Amino acid sequence: MLRFSGKTVIITGSGGSIGRAACLRFAREGATIIGCDIDPVRAEETELQVRAAGGEIHSLQPCDLTDPHSADQLIAFALTKVEKVDVLYNNAALAHFAWFADMTFDMFSQTLRDELDLVFHLCKAIWPQFITQGHGVIVNTASVSGMIGYEVVPGLAHATAKSGILGMTRHLAMEGAKNNIRVNAISPGLIRTNQSEALLADPQWAERMQAKVMLPRLGNPEDVAGAAAFLASDDASWITGTNLIVDGGTTAW
Ligand SMILES: NC(=O)c1ccc[n+]([C@@H]2O[C@H](COP(=O)([O-])OP(=O)(O)OC[C@H]3O[C@@H](n4cnc5c(N)ncnc54)[C@H](O)[C@@H]3O)[C@@H](O)[C@H]2O)c1
Repeated sequence: MLRFSGKTVIITGSGGSIGRAACLRFAREGATIIGCDIDPVRAEETELQVRAAGGEIHSLQPCDLTDPHSADQLIAFALTKVEKVDVLYNNAALAHFAWFADMTFDMFSQTLRDELDLVFHLCKAIWPQFITQGHGVIVNTASVSGMIGYEVVPGLAHATAKSGILGMTRHLAMEGAKNNIRVNAISPGLIRTNQSEALLADPQWAERMQAKVMLPRLGNPEDVAGAAAFLASDDASWITGTNLIVDGGTTAW
C-alpha cells in the first residue's frame, strides 16, 4: 500500500540513524523525500541509499536548522522541487548530557537550541505554506526522557527540551486544527543509533537501560520510522495533539 504516493515529506536529520530509516520507509511508501542535515557526508549517503532503493529524494546539506534562515531556505528549496509539502517530520536534534552539578548555563542553553529551537524554526517556516495549502501534517520527535528521568542518564537539559517538544506539539495541534493541520509527537525509548552507540558500548550502562525495557530487545531506527509513517499517514487522520510512545514498554511499568 503506497500511503504517500503523490506526497512530499520533509525529513530533518536525514543523515542520522532514525532519519535515514525514515527516508527509506517513506520513500518505499511512495513519498518524495526532502532531506536535510548539518552533516553533508551522511546526508549524501542517505540520498544514495534512497535512490538505490528506487525512491525519490532531494536533499539540502549542510543545513543547520538552529539558524532560522536555514529553516526558511529548506522550505524554499523544497518548493523549487515540488508544488506542495504534505508532511514535516522534525527528527533532527543533538543532545548534550551532564549532571546538573556539572551543567553550565551555556550547555543548558545549547541543548535547548539544538533540540527545541530548531523545531520551532522549521514549524514557523512551514506554517504559512500549510495554511495556504489548507492541509499539513507535522510529526515532532520528543523522547521518553521528556516524560521520565533515567537514573543513569544525565539528561536534565535533554529532558527539558523534549518535554518542551510535547508542549509545543499540543499547542500547534490546537492552533492548526481549524486549518486542517495535524501535529503529533513521537517519544522513542532507547534506540540503537549513532547517538546512543557510544553509551551502549558500556555493558553496565546498557544492562541497566535494557532492564527498563519490557520487551526483550532495544528499539531500532525502523521501529521509530514505522510509527512516524503511521502518524503522518491518513491512517491517523483523526489523531492530533498526541504523543505516541515507542519504547518497548519502558514507561508502562
Ligand atoms: N537514539 C535514541 O535512543 C533516541 C531516543 C529518544 C529520542 N531520540 C531522538 O530521535 C531523533 C534522531 O536521533 P538519532 O538517535 O537517530 O541520532 P542521530 O545522531 O543518528 O541523528 C540525528 C541527525 O540530526 C542531525 N542534526 C543534528 N543537529 C542538526 C541541526 N542543527 N541541523 C540539521 N541537522 C542536525 C545530525 O547530524 C544527525 O544526522 C532525535 O530527535 C533524538 O533526540 C533518539
